[in-house]
Amino acid sequence: MSKELIRLRNVCMAFDDELVLDNINLYFNDKEFLTLLGPSGCGKSTTLRIIGGFTTPTSGDVIFDGVRINDIPPYQRQVNTVFQKYALFPHLNVYENVAFGLRMQRLPDPNDPTGKKKVKIPEEEIHQRVMEMLEVVSLKGFEHRKPEALSGGQQQRVAIARALVNRPKVLLLDEPLAALDLKLRKDMQIELKRIQQQVGITFIYVTHDQEEALTMSDTIVVMDKGSIQQIGTPEDIYNEPKNAFVADFIGESNIIDGIMVRDNEVQMYGKKFPCLDGGFAPNEPVDVVIRPEDIDIVPVSQGQLIGTVTSVTFKGMQYDIIVDFKGFKWLIQTTDHCPEGERIGIKIDPDGIHVMKKSKYSGMFGDYSSFSEEYDEMGDATLASDEEDSADEE
Ligand SMILES: Nc1ncnc2c1ncn2[C@@H]1O[C@H](COP(=O)(O)OP(=O)(O)OP(=O)(O)O)[C@@H](O)[C@H]1O
Ligand SMILES: [Mg+2]
Repeated sequence: MSKELIRLRNVCMAFDDELVLDNINLYFNDKEFLTLLGPSGCGKSTTLRIIGGFTTPTSGDVIFDGVRINDIPPYQRQVNTVFQKYALFPHLNVYENVAFGLRMQRLPDPNDPTGKKKVKIPEEEIHQRVMEMLEVVSLKGFEHRKPEALSGGQQQRVAIARALVNRPKVLLLDEPLAALDLKLRKDMQIELKRIQQQVGITFIYVTHDQEEALTMSDTIVVMDKGSIQQIGTPEDIYNEPKNAFVADFIGESNIIDGIMVRDNEVQMYGKKFPCLDGGFAPNEPVDVVIRPEDIDIVPVSQGQLIGTVTSVTFKGMQYDIIVDFKGFKWLIQTTDHCPEGERIGIKIDPDGIHVMKKSKYSGMFGDYSSFSEEYDEMGDATLASDEEDSADEE
C-alpha cells in the first residue's frame, strides 16, 4: 500500500475577491506520479505553488507527512520545482549548474558535539551525487557544456537533475515540456516517467495536455474553474468520466441526451440501447458518452441509428468522419471509407456506451457541428428531408 505524503484539506485561494481555488481536497501518495490537468486558468499552477510554499492559501491546510506546513517557507520544505523556463545559470557549465544547490548547503559538523557548527558538503560527495544525477537524466559526457550549447530537451534535463540532486521527497513540475516540439515532448514524457520510477519519489505534474497526462500518470486530477472534477487512474478517467466536462476534455467524445429507462437500458433518439450502467432512477435524464472508436458502421438496414456522413478526414490510421443524426453531429473513427453524403447505419456495443449523471456541464459539449459547418451550408436543404425519413427506419 502506498503511503500518504501530502494532503490539501479544504484549500481555498482568492485573489482580490475572485475565488480561484474552491475547497480543494486532495492527497498525494509517496512515489506517485500525479498530474493536475485542466484548461488554462483552472488553478493548476496555483495549487502547485501552494504545495511548494510560494503561495499561502486563503484558507485550508497543507499537510506534509502528517504535519501542517502552511507557515513553512519553500526552502525548508522537502519539495523542489522544475518550471517551464529552465532558468539555468548561463555562465555555469552543466556540472556546476547541477552542483550549485549542493555547494550552497551547510550541514551540521559531525565533529562538533554542540551541533552548532556548520560545514559544506565535501567535494567528493558533491561529485558523486552530481555524476549520479547526470547519469539518471542521460547527460553523462555533457558536464563541461554551457547551457547555450544544449538543445531545449537537454537543458530541461539539466533543470531536472538540478532539482533532484538535493534529494527532495517531492518534485513539482509546472508544464516542463511546453516549450519543446512534439517529437521531443513525447520522448521526454517517457524519460520523465522512467526518471520518476528510478529515483522513486513523488512527482506532481501540471499540464493542460490530456495525452501527456494519460501517458505518464498514476493518478490524474481533472480541474475546471478552481474545482476538482474527477480524480482517478488514466483508465478510470478515460473509460468512466464523471461528467460532460471530463468526457470532453479527455479524448474525443460524442455526448448525447438520454433517458435511463432502467438498469442496463438507455434511450437515445427515442430508441432503446442495451448498456452496462445502472443505479439511476427510472427514466432519469442522463448524458450518454460514446467514444468515436466504439462505433461500428453497418448497412442502413442493420443500423441502431441511421445518419448521413457530412465530412471525411483521412488521419493515416483511420478516417475521422462526421455523421449527422437528426441535426446532432457525431465524430466516428473508422477504417471503412464512407464518402460524404452517404447514409450509414451504426451499431454500438453495450460496453461502448457510458452513462453519466446530468451536471452543470450538460449540453455544453459533445457535438461536432463545427467540424462540418461549410458542408452544412451547402447541403442543408437536401439533408433535412433525408433525416426526417431516416428517423423511422430500422
Ligand atoms: N498573483 C495572482 N493575482 C491575481 N490573480 C491570480 C494570481 N495568480 C493566479 N491568478 C488567477 O488565478 C487563476 C488560476 O491561475 P493559475 O495560474 O493557477 O492557472 P493555471 O491552471 O495554471 O493556468 P495555465 O494553464 O494558463 O498556466 C487565473 O484566473 C489567474 O488569473
Ligand atoms: Mg499554469
